Amino acid sequence: HDYDLLVVGSANADLVIGVERRPGPGETVLGSDLAVHPGGKGANQAVAAARLGARTALLARVGDDDHGRLLLDSLRTAGADTSGVLTGGAPTGVALITVDPSGDNSIVVSPGANARLAPEDVRAAAPLLASARVVSLQLEIPLETVAEVVRAAAAGTDGRPGPRVVLNPSPAAPLPGEVLARCDPLVVNEHEARFLLGDDPAGGSTEPEEWAAALLTRGPRSVVVTLGERGALVADDGRTVRVPSLPVGAVDTTGAGDAFTGALAWRLGVGDDLETAVRFAVRVGAAAVTRAGAQQSFPTAEDVARL
Ligand code: RIB
Ligand code: NA
Repeated sequence: HDYDLLVVGSANADLVIGVERRPGPGETVLGSDLAVHPGGKGANQAVAAARLGARTALLARVGDDDHGRLLLDSLRTAGADTSGVLTGGAPTGVALITVDPSGDNSIVVSPGANARLAPEDVRAAAPLLASARVVSLQLEIPLETVAEVVRAAAAGTDGRPGPRVVLNPSPAAPLPGEVLARCDPLVVNEHEARFLLGDDPAGGSTEPEEWAAALLTRGPRSVVVTLGERGALVADDGRTVRVPSLPVGAVDTTGAGDAFTGALAWRLGVGDDLETAVRFAVRVGAAAVTRAGAQQSFPTAEDVARL
């Protein structure tokens, strides 16, 4: 295998404004100077893994524009392979982000080129998929494209098994059974867990253990629930383990979940068991919240060791 991790997903330019509070409908508030950062859940995961030392590639689509070049630069600087980053068809995706004094964010995404990453692009990238141990997915690209990756991973290549599938269903959307069944793990935060559980009584519980148990009955081989400053929960084969986080001062949580999932997927690709991978990923996510922005806030292996 040439890659520990292939990420298939979005790349966005993040347009970020710090605010004291968010405006209500019909209201205008003044904020900080505008910052333009490389982001997008897919590119964030690839940069997070690459900065930690992963052999990683990204399959994505950006526009032939300055935002696209900003993203390609960030990926290359981190050491990610960009041969799978396609160009053109629409402007690069943009995320409009407000960050409040507690470090929490609200995000509106214009998918742009991400919406044009098509199942054909996945089929054309078959060699990339065949050369990765793990493939990591999110939902800022079309669901049919995600499903095509899952199908290709399930089919494998020339009798060899395809990559292990990690999926973070963000932004939350209903998932077909064939996708859920391949997730190992399905990585969700509280919001995504409750969304996927829908009317299931477990969704009304305050116990993440109950969300994980109920989600496991939907087909994924394992479930990881991220709990912000409370760390994460790992559930598989009737075993549930809580992994605490480290106490850190949150400056900007943008992309911390992506750093967590990118790190987790990479560690699975190099052979860690799920709990060990989550213990490492929690530290990566904690480091990412201590600095502003998404990709530029992600730690190196030395930063993680120092925590
Ligand atoms: O998860 C954080 C990311 O969500 C941001 O970088 C933004 O681009 C949106 O995709
Ligand atoms: Na950050």
